[in-house]
Amino acid sequence: MPANLIKRDAIAALAARAAGLGQPEGNPRLKQVVNRLLGDLMLAIDELDISMNEFWTGVAYLTQAGKQNEFGLIVPGVVLEHFLDLRLDEAERRAGLSGSTVRTIEGPLYIAGAPLSNGEARLDDGTDDGEVLFMEGQVRAVSGEPIAGAVVDVWHANTMGNYSHFDPSQAAFNLRRRIETDKEGRYKFRSIMPSGYACPPGSQTEKLLQAMGRHGNRPAHVHFFVTAPGYRKLTTQINIDGDKYLHDDFAFGTRDELIPRVERVSDAAEIHKAGLNKPFSRIRFDFTVTKEATGAPASIVAREHAEAA
Ligand code: DHB
Ligand code: FE
Repeated sequence: MPANLIKRDAIAALAARAAGLGQPEGNPRLKQVVNRLLGDLMLAIDELDISMNEFWTGVAYLTQAGKQNEFGLIVPGVVLEHFLDLRLDEAERRAGLSGSTVRTIEGPLYIAGAPLSNGEARLDDGTDDGEVLFMEGQVRAVSGEPIAGAVVDVWHANTMGNYSHFDPSQAAFNLRRRIETDKEGRYKFRSIMPSGYACPPGSQTEKLLQAMGRHGNRPAHVHFFVTAPGYRKLTTQINIDGDKYLHDDFAFGTRDELIPRVERVSDAAEIHKAGLNKPFSRIRFDFTVTKEATGAPASIVAREHAEAA
């Protein structure tokens, strides 16, 4: 079929009717958004001459993605989650908020309600013989003042790149903890060095990436939510330096400020002092959070999370 078969004002009129713009009832914001998205979609169909077969292939793709609960994976893979971060960064800049640790995507694999401990925690249950990782740092305000009683909610993958809860072979909340900072604002934990995550083989996400000539790998990373009363919630990650996918993350989560130095410790005396018998790694990473400010865009995102069983 040729492209551009339908007049632009006819498309606009169809979108407006379908979105209920002429009706007094309904949610005005929803109508506004649906009108825009439908209009843009019809324009794309007409300009690109999207065939009926292509259209219904897309519908089948999305239906299957929904059945497999994959929208949370597709969104970062098609850069939209990072794009939302860029918008929030810029909105904060315009609201005069600055000095916070850089944010990056949450991803789809957070589970609320991980065990809470004071000052320090061990994240791994000892069943994964990965390289031991010690991580520590301080949570501070932009003024430099340490924040006692902040909560560092941390989660990461195991040495296979898999997350507990989504990987039924791992114990509940393995590699997931909430750590409350001590009176100097410090947190620390012992865990294992994660491996990079790869989109599940055969998933709808992987199929789409493959069809676009892309891979579905992320560099090894550790996720954080940092919260403290009166401060804006920080959603971020650190990436493990040296990872093959460090600057080729399918989910666009890597940011230059989030690649701390990884200290590889192989000195026998240090290993002994740490109570270990093989080399380990150490990362120091401090978090800076900004004070909540009236008029600033929300830093707490209402988002559905899987519930722990
Ligand atoms: C995805 C997985 C992650 O571990 C992550 O941090 C971000 C995105 C994903 O599957 O899309
Ligand atoms: Fe992740």
